Amino acid sequence: MFERGTGLQSCDEMDQGRMRILGIETSCDETAAAVVEEVDDAARPWLTRSSVVASQVEIHREWGGVVPELASRQHVRDICGVVERALDDALVTPRDLDAIAVTQGPGLVGSLLVGVSFAKSLAAAWQLPLVPVHHLAGHIESLFLQHGPLPLPAMVLVVSGGHTSLYEVRTAGHYRAIGRTRDDAAGEAYDKVAKLVGLGYPGGPVIDRLAKAGHDRAVDFPVARMTHPDRNEPLRKGQWDFSFSGVKTAVLRHVRARGEGWSPSDGEMADLCASFQRSVVGALVDKTFAAARWYGARSVGIAGGVSANSRLRADAEAAGARAGIPVYVPALALSTDNAAMIAAAGLRRYHAGVRADDSLNADASLPLTS
Ligand code: KG4
Ligand code: ZN
Repeated sequence: MFERGTGLQSCDEMDQGRMRILGIETSCDETAAAVVEEVDDAARPWLTRSSVVASQVEIHREWGGVVPELASRQHVRDICGVVERALDDALVTPRDLDAIAVTQGPGLVGSLLVGVSFAKSLAAAWQLPLVPVHHLAGHIESLFLQHGPLPLPAMVLVVSGGHTSLYEVRTAGHYRAIGRTRDDAAGEAYDKVAKLVGLGYPGGPVIDRLAKAGHDRAVDFPVARMTHPDRNEPLRKGQWDFSFSGVKTAVLRHVRARGEGWSPSDGEMADLCASFQRSVVGALVDKTFAAARWYGARSVGIAGGVSANSRLRADAEAAGARAGIPVYVPALALSTDNAAMIAAAGLRRYHAGVRADDSLNADASLPLTS
């Protein structure tokens, strides 16, 4: 159940000048804790001492998606062990920590509450400052944690089960939203399509794997290109927005057209997955690079669970090479939800003077300000 992080370093002699932060993440169906430390290296200033993730995927799989009530109960069961393990793996005690960072939102409110309450209790008991972190700021900071400072301005695509958004980052730690999905998030589309064709939850990894054997033009699914203003917000031009409900509906129609009880062969399933993936990845890559060129970005970053997708990584890399813009993605363990990214974002916010007091509450729809 526990997954050991990759950043384990021996720590016989603690350098007392270094700042060390414990990160806690419980926004959805992963209970995660990590210890990240500042080091004297301008190229890679953050070191992941430990990163522990207890995934609930097996619990939710039988329901075909995340069941919020089950998720929060499982967080309660796992959080103590996960935090203890993160400290053990990092070879630190609470005395070696300087602060605690926790995901305040957005996410499932019951899940968030477990992390926030636990972090508040630890901060009070250990007399440490508490730093609230936005989940998407964590995903964006996973890029800086992995690669050190990115060439700025950067165009960052955050693409996960709950979000598909483009941010312009002119200064590290400041994120300007320039586009977002108008309906489903890309990961949500993967999960819904997988459910529809009986591939189970979560959909992204299995569709990604099956697509490798398929023809990506076997089925002509639409690639959404948003050119019109959002009906719900007509004053926003929204030319950098995404939409994935169209392709999801096209898959539904394709399946229905084959009649009740259609049981695709392995080849048909692979073709369907490859064609669906071409449509989603095409929309993500085209829009991200169009925005990068428009805003004069010096780098492109892609973070969030869907950034684990093999075709998205390959196509973005190829588009970056054509455009002469370097592309940054996190390691697979940093793509999906984890607490190292929350600790990293917490370090940045700690230095910006952000602190929470004991009135801190979880916020399921917290906006990303800066
Ligand atoms: O960032 P994340 O772990 O949680 C959220 O904040 O939502 O992202 C989870 C999402 C799920 O929708 C999952 O299907 C998708 O990321 N995902 C993938 C892949 N691995 C995970 N989507 C496409 N290809 C993958 N390889
Ligand atoms: Zn996430």
